[in-house]
Amino acid sequence: MANAPQSHRARALVWDLPVRVSHWLLAVTVSIAWLTGEFETLRLIHAASGGAALGIAFFRILWGLVGSSPARFTAFIRPPHEAVAYLRALAAALLSGQTAPHYTSHNPAGGYAVVALLLLAVITPLTGWLTFNDWGGKWLEESHEALANLFLLAIAVHLIGVTVGSIAHRESLPRAMVTGIKQVAHAEEGISSPRRWGVVPLAIAALVGAWWAIQ
Ligand code: HEM
Repeated sequence: MANAPQSHRARALVWDLPVRVSHWLLAVTVSIAWLTGEFETLRLIHAASGGAALGIAFFRILWGLVGSSPARFTAFIRPPHEAVAYLRALAAALLSGQTAPHYTSHNPAGGYAVVALLLLAVITPLTGWLTFNDWGGKWLEESHEALANLFLLAIAVHLIGVTVGSIAHRESLPRAMVTGIKQVAHAEEGISSPRRWGVVPLAIAALVGAWWAIQ
């Protein structure tokens, strides 16, 4: 939800533990897969980290359906015109030195970036896995490489968005993705942190471990 002026904002827990753990695990596994992609001798590490990224992305998609309210797709997938309006307001705010419209979950433009990143984190390893198993031939191998380049571009856009968003909202969004605590219009918009969520990172670890075992 867009909300109150910066000076009136409270801080509250917004990103639950599964969101934070899956984000940083995804960033690490995708980075390893990208760094090892060109080396024949590192093929197993490449395949395993890509497989782990796939498992984590699957988990995050599931969590987007059943997780805490800011983690759900319904909290941040908005109609395209809202994303365009947000980008216009952001540019105007940056040029005038005022603060941009604030959202508790991802902003409407960021929401599309999140969907693109998650889709790429599913499709890229899948094409790699099929290629690794000699299915699909040359065109699939080339599609895998093209998707990896597209993924890199999406990550660059993501990092620029996070930097611009942090400046516009005068808040470190990466730190919020570590601690879970973010500015909110009203403290009630924050989430409570039930202990049962502690089992979810274990479930992710089990998923990733299972994938490694299959590999
Ligand atoms: C391979 C690298 C990366 C990938 C694939 C990636 C992917 C993602 C995804 C899927 C989300 C949505 C999180 C969710 O709702 O669960 C996200 C959000 C976020 N990421 Fe990344 N990320 C990467 C690297 C980074 C790095 C290096 C940083 C910090 C400098 C970062 C900072 C953030 C922040 C701050 C958000 C939340 C943005 C917001 O407040 O709306 N990411 N990222």
